[in-house]
Amino acid sequence: MGAVVAEIVKASNNMEIVCGIDAFANPSDFEFPLYETFESSTEKADVLIDFSHFSAVPNVLKYCADTKTPAVICTTGIDGELEKAIDDAAKNVAIFRSGNMSLGINLLIDLAKRATSVLGDNFDIEIIEKHHHRKVDAPSGTAYMIAQGIESKKKSEGSFVYGRHGKDAKRKPDEIGIHAVRGGTIVGEHTVIFAGNDEIIEIRHSATSRNVFAEGAVKAAEYLFDKGPGLYDMNSILKG
Ligand SMILES: NC(=O)c1ccc[n+]([C@@H]2O[C@H](COP(=O)([O-])OP(=O)(O)OC[C@H]3O[C@@H](n4cnc5c(N)ncnc54)[C@H](O)[C@@H]3O)[C@@H](O)[C@H]2O)c1
Repeated sequence: MGAVVAEIVKASNNMEIVCGIDAFANPSDFEFPLYETFESSTEKADVLIDFSHFSAVPNVLKYCADTKTPAVICTTGIDGELEKAIDDAAKNVAIFRSGNMSLGINLLIDLAKRATSVLGDNFDIEIIEKHHHRKVDAPSGTAYMIAQGIESKKKSEGSFVYGRHGKDAKRKPDEIGIHAVRGGTIVGEHTVIFAGNDEIIEIRHSATSRNVFAEGAVKAAEYLFDKGPGLYDMNSILKG
């Protein structure tokens, strides 16, 4: 993802990559200085974009808090103590975080929340996600983000039902069904179905390349670079 971000920034006319930090990559593969650690870097950036590994995120947070460099954290697998570390860092510097940097997916979540508010609890809501056959986790973290967004707008408390099978699988009114399809090279597809009496509404997002995540991260960086301390996410951009 770092290399895709670098390509997008190179094509822009108002940004440049001042350096990269990667513990394992080969510096000769890049047109900008690449350092193994933050300590060995000398450049000062307006904003940092992180696509790495969750074990690297504490160092990212320390660097950003120490140097007051706003950070866009795209790395996933963050929970518990690391989430708290992000909250703490956000007290000193602007931190943007989203498990899915695609603007389209975040708009889909926004639309699904609005649809839930309007349609109330009279429509059955199901989420179907499709991904390539190499994906190990199911359902996708994004399907879960969508379900949580919908849940936050439902009046009655329901439950998430992952797939459905068996002789006693009749749908309960308050369920949000979540279904995972795996096959081939599908980059990522998420469909939310609102099924009512005699009418069905579907909202669908399809990613055709990983570029959408890098584009979203660069947009987030442009949004964040002059912001004060705080925790930001895609909703901050969507609200304008
Ligand atoms: N939020 C989103 O929309 C989104 C989209 C795509 C990927 N991701 C996440 O971004 C992360 C990176 O994804 P990727 O596909 O680029 O993975 P990748 O494995 O291709 O790249 C990760 C890079 O981080 C480097 N790295 C790993 N540990 C490091 C450390 N301790 N210190 C410094 N550098 C380290 C690796 O050398 C590698 O170059 C993953 O967590 C992935 O799930 C998020």
